[in-house]
Amino acid sequence: MLDRFNRKIHYLRISVTDRCNLRCHYCMPENDPCLLRHEDILRFEEIQQVVAVAVPLGIDKIRLTGGEPLVRKDIVELVSMISEVPGVKDIAMTTNGVLLDRFAHDLARAGLKRVNISLDTVDARKFRTITRGGELQKVFDGIRAAKGAGLHPVKINCVVKEGPEESEAKAVQAYGRKEGLEVRFIPRMDLGTGHFGVVSGGTGGDCSQCNRLRLTSDGKVKPCLFSDLAYDIRSLGIQRAMEMALGAKPEKGTVNKQNLFHNIGG
Ligand code: 5AD
Ligand code: SF4
Repeated sequence: MLDRFNRKIHYLRISVTDRCNLRCHYCMPENDPCLLRHEDILRFEEIQQVVAVAVPLGIDKIRLTGGEPLVRKDIVELVSMISEVPGVKDIAMTTNGVLLDRFAHDLARAGLKRVNISLDTVDARKFRTITRGGELQKVFDGIRAAKGAGLHPVKINCVVKEGPEESEAKAVQAYGRKEGLEVRFIPRMDLGTGHFGVVSGGTGGDCSQCNRLRLTSDGKVKPCLFSDLAYDIRSLGIQRAMEMALGAKPEKGTVNKQNLFHNIGG
């Protein structure tokens, strides 16, 4: 499907939960983030239905995000259900990697093709600080498991404050080179002020190249990360919500006052 600005929209990012097992300071409030009620979170059947409606509209690439997608119960089953929908060419996941060691093989078997793993530092102490308590070794184990399971390519998402010349970023780049992993640098964004930038090596953040819609874990189709526009699939119906989101997709991002990263999935 083409939007008003002639961009081909074929990519749907699905946030499957607003919960996470880490607390990165730029993404999650430390304690008591305002979390969704269980009944507001989409059921697997609803997510599968969204994909089934989206494919005939032109969506062929799905990415599962969070929060942290691997904390959603039975996530492997959801991957199977999505890969059963005819016309889905690519299923990817963005994960913090902590639970990948446990899930990588089953995910690959269920139809997941590739993963992006968030990694802002390769220093265990700094990792603990950034994530408020996370264990870096678990991410390394997850990366190894992802490669071993044949998920390909495994990419690293590295959030930077200013740019790839920062020392942490350079160390992550060196690690990526050693492990044969592509590293993408994501400028730290602020939804509320509309501060965003272009992600290296992808189309994220480059509005003229934007090819995506988003589905929040409580069932809102969002045409843009940096906008408050949202269309509820439960009240509007899936088809109508998708069409309205497409029709309203802005030329450029501005600000999003309603979401935080942990409930929209970056
Ligand atoms: N700015 C940029 N990227 C962010 N992410 C989470 N919060 C932010 C932010 N404020 C990234 C994570 C992960 C992806 C899901 O979103 O690092 O790679
Ligand atoms: Fe969790 Fe990712 Fe947010 Fe960190 S950035 S708190 S790992 S969702």
